Amino acid sequence: MLDTVNLPLIEKYSKIIKLSGVTSNPSIIKREGKIDFFNHLRKIRKIIGQTAKLHVQVTGRSTADMITDAHRILAEIDNDVYIKVPTNEAGLAAIKQLKNEGIHITATAIYSELQGFLAVAAGADYLAPYYNRMLNMNIDAAYVIRALNHEISQERSATKILAASFHNCQQVNEAIESGADAVTIGPDILKTALTNPAINAAIKDFTDDWESIYGKDSIIT
Ligand code: E4P
Repeated sequence: MLDTVNLPLIEKYSKIIKLSGVTSNPSIIKREGKIDFFNHLRKIRKIIGQTAKLHVQVTGRSTADMITDAHRILAEIDNDVYIKVPTNEAGLAAIKQLKNEGIHITATAIYSELQGFLAVAAGADYLAPYYNRMLNMNIDAAYVIRALNHEISQERSATKILAASFHNCQQVNEAIESGADAVTIGPDILKTALTNPAINAAIKDFTDDWESIYGKDSIIT
């Protein structure tokens, strides 16, 4: 999934990768300035389509405000949106209530196994462990993902791990190898992975060799 709400980049990468969703939070929204929030998110939905997963975070701090936010988000966008709820006391209570209403939930801001276990028990559809932020706190992020994965299998739970907060390609690899079902990554990481100078050098060698045989700008016929 793409961890951005930048419309041109979502448009661009939706044509390049098999995009299974877009994730946002208030800090990601802030990067775009004071956007017309719901209108902007409806535009993202239009680009990614109804089957891709759009994750939108509540901003309320109390359980009641989180639930009100969730209802508003669904009413303004659509009922397929995954509501991101921070996994604290107020959030867990909100997750339980929203799951009783059959709403899709992503339990976010996960830094520990216990937080994740509680979100699984509350019925969250996705857990979003914060990979880079855990590493910054000297927490073994790969271990946390493995432990969450183990707990989910043991409970035969349908909860999936959507690892987030990546600051480089290596972190993404580690999360996937540790058992994350999905990752959400910023366009900067995708760009780094796909525009590595070694890739361009290899392509240039292929082009030069081909053209040395068949001539400049020749194609397979
Ligand atoms: C998902 O949307 C998360 O909120 C996000 O990946 C957090 O990333 P950060 O740690 O770079 O802020």
